[in-house]
Amino acid sequence: MTKETDRHFDVIVIGGGAMGLATAYHLSKRKTKTLVLEQFQFKNQLGSSAGVSRQYRIPYPEEYMVKMAVDAQPFWDELQSHTSKTLLDKVGTLWFGDPTVHSTEGNIGEAEKALKAANVPYTSLTSKEIETQYHFKNLPDNYTGLFQPDGASIDFRATIQTLYEAGQRSPHVTLQDESPVTAIKQDGKLFEVITPKGTYISEKLVITPGPYVDSVINLLKFRIEATYWNMSSAYFKKTDPSIQYPTWFVFQNAIGQNGNEFYGFPGVVWDHPEYIRVAPDFVINPLEDPSERTSIPNKQELAYTSEWIKNHMTGLDPVPYFTSTCLVALSKIANKELLIDFAPPYVPNNKNIVVYATGWAAKFTPFLGQILTELALDGHSTFDITPFKLGYNYFKAI
Ligand code: BEZ
Repeated sequence: MTKETDRHFDVIVIGGGAMGLATAYHLSKRKTKTLVLEQFQFKNQLGSSAGVSRQYRIPYPEEYMVKMAVDAQPFWDELQSHTSKTLLDKVGTLWFGDPTVHSTEGNIGEAEKALKAANVPYTSLTSKEIETQYHFKNLPDNYTGLFQPDGASIDFRATIQTLYEAGQRSPHVTLQDESPVTAIKQDGKLFEVITPKGTYISEKLVITPGPYVDSVINLLKFRIEATYWNMSSAYFKKTDPSIQYPTWFVFQNAIGQNGNEFYGFPGVVWDHPEYIRVAPDFVINPLEDPSERTSIPNKQELAYTSEWIKNHMTGLDPVPYFTSTCLVALSKIANKELLIDFAPPYVPNNKNIVVYATGWAAKFTPFLGQILTELALDGHSTFDITPFKLGYNYFKAI
């Protein structure tokens, strides 16, 4: 341990990816003595924080998700003040495709309704407008779309680095890597968290291990119902250096194994600037357990992506380069919804155990850190987490 040899903390955060570091950042602002335990090295590529870019977007089919994305904005602005790197490259969000499709990301019409209800500005687009304004081609005539100008490409590597450095600088935060939690004991109100590097004590736990959540909460005798997506991604070389895309997502019906939904980014200065990242938003083989993942992208998923680029994008060579994977846990019951709650009531001291699990939450990073901090320190959050509560269905006692 670098700064702190004492074993006692106010809060122990288990999981040192983006969400754990964002929680430590907000705990530190409240002068909370915090230990962040990371099972691997910080800033690793082994979980949901892998890769360098993410989409910040406001369109969601549910109004409460639209609200959450809007509410996240000031937290991004505040985090931005700690780094000279641009964390959000505001290129806008383009959602388009078959308006009848209800995908893992929702439905275009429902998103329009939710945006309208929340007074978020956007422009509706026809198939032809999407082609002429955004460089796509050969789109079916029935496709529709929307463009929301506040969407951004997130420099996720810089986001994590900023949070990590804030943790390193903070007199309240201890960051400890190579510390998988092997047992959690309870002694009255205190938790004893056991790792190969030592045993640490706190009254509160925040559990943010991304796809490894079950391996931690199993130690407290519960689990969640999740499936695991080892998501493939690749970069594609620009054949037209001037070509620029917003962040985008296409809704289409699956064709056999081809989930047929793709998403992409603009070219970004922070990673392979001559290339553009495009990725499938489906997996052919969902996993039952994170241990089944490999870091090898699924060739067929990349082949479907290349085919889609060849047929529908301009200015790109459809050969994939710089491929990678990212592992995400998705709730089986609430599909991809985020689960944010205390441990279930049958776990002793459950109100002192805050869990964030499942879903695509990078766009909320600094805001989620604040929400988890409020739950841990105040027992409630000023942001209404009702839609994200686990409900006792989601939890299974073991
Ligand atoms: C999202 O915006 O939540 C998202 C975008 C692309 C793939 C998966 C999730």
